[in-house]
Amino acid sequence: MDIELVLVKYARLVDHFILEHLSGTPESLYQAALHLVKAGGKRLRPAIAMLVARMLGGIEAESRALPLAAAIEVSHTFTLIHDDIMDRDDYRRGVPTVHKLWGESWAILAGDLLHAYAYKFIVSSVDHGLSKGEAHEAMKVLTTAGIKVSRGQAYDLLFEKTLDVTVADYLDMVYHKTGAMMEASAKLGAVAARAESEVVELLGQYGSLLGVAFQVRDDYLGMFGDPEKTGKPIYSDLRRGKKTLLAIYALSKLKGEEREFLVKLLDPNTPKSLEDLERGAMLVKESGAVDEALRLSRVYADRAKEILLSLRNVVNEDAREALLVLTEYAITRDR
Ligand code: IPE
Ligand code: IPE
Ligand code: MG
Ligand code: MG
Repeated sequence: MDIELVLVKYARLVDHFILEHLSGTPESLYQAALHLVKAGGKRLRPAIAMLVARMLGGIEAESRALPLAAAIEVSHTFTLIHDDIMDRDDYRRGVPTVHKLWGESWAILAGDLLHAYAYKFIVSSVDHGLSKGEAHEAMKVLTTAGIKVSRGQAYDLLFEKTLDVTVADYLDMVYHKTGAMMEASAKLGAVAARAESEVVELLGQYGSLLGVAFQVRDDYLGMFGDPEKTGKPIYSDLRRGKKTLLAIYALSKLKGEEREFLVKLLDPNTPKSLEDLERGAMLVKESGAVDEALRLSRVYADRAKEILLSLRNVVNEDAREALLVLTEYAITRDR
């Protein structure tokens, strides 16, 4: 199965919904809000929501999930716009970031607008076959995720300023900043499928594990990926002193002058040349941190797959298979 084709199929559906419902004045606000939507992106979160709905409830559940899938994608886009301000990144999805083109004030507003539309889409799900009770459940899911993302992003920023970050701290931080949105995606699909609450929770666990595995791969691509493929700048995490899993492992393995070099490089206030950053990435690789990080992402992805395989209430096996392939994609992807 070609998972990229599956993603494209859901991207079309979700993008159509988003573009149809997101218009207004002033035009520049809506242009800024739609900038990243139009630039592309993998649309992984809506695909998870739609596939989970189909897996548990068939084609009708999948169509009920559409507004929820659109909600999670615009909410994700909102977090990206604000994240790029926080991380001071100039590129995303292969195009200049929203704050680079419109300035920070407009980028903040564009994010706020998308955040509000996410809730508007969930409210509108009653027009797409969800009951008021189910729409309320979906509200709770998105709200819980939003709170977790803010907390995770706060830890991500706090960790820039300290070397005292353990693997456990990292896992907790990325569960919040990234896992929570994948958790919500899977849960929203299960809500649309009218799954029992234990099944909704189980799918939530699947999404959380997937999200953590996904973020470890994201850290890897940020240091060793091809910006032409990721659409994002390389070495941004090193520049900002982010405590990625790679940095944490490397700090624990390197000794002497090499460790000192990395420590200094990870200070956000240290001026860094491209050669410095390249040497930092080389030290990370030579320390064995890459192998260890990718091993950990494999463990999380395998646990996520086990949950999918344990489900007893599957009505569509193709959707389960697609989710298994998507899980593998999350930790092997180049973009
Ligand atoms: C990027 O997410 C932000 C993270 C949580 C790592 P994606 O890699 O899913 O970004 P898009 O939506 O495909 O651009
Ligand atoms: C993204 O984290 C998490 C959110 C946007 C909430 P990162 O800052 O690690 O992701 P990228 O690399 O900028 O996409
Ligand atoms: Mg970032
Ligand atoms: Mg960030």
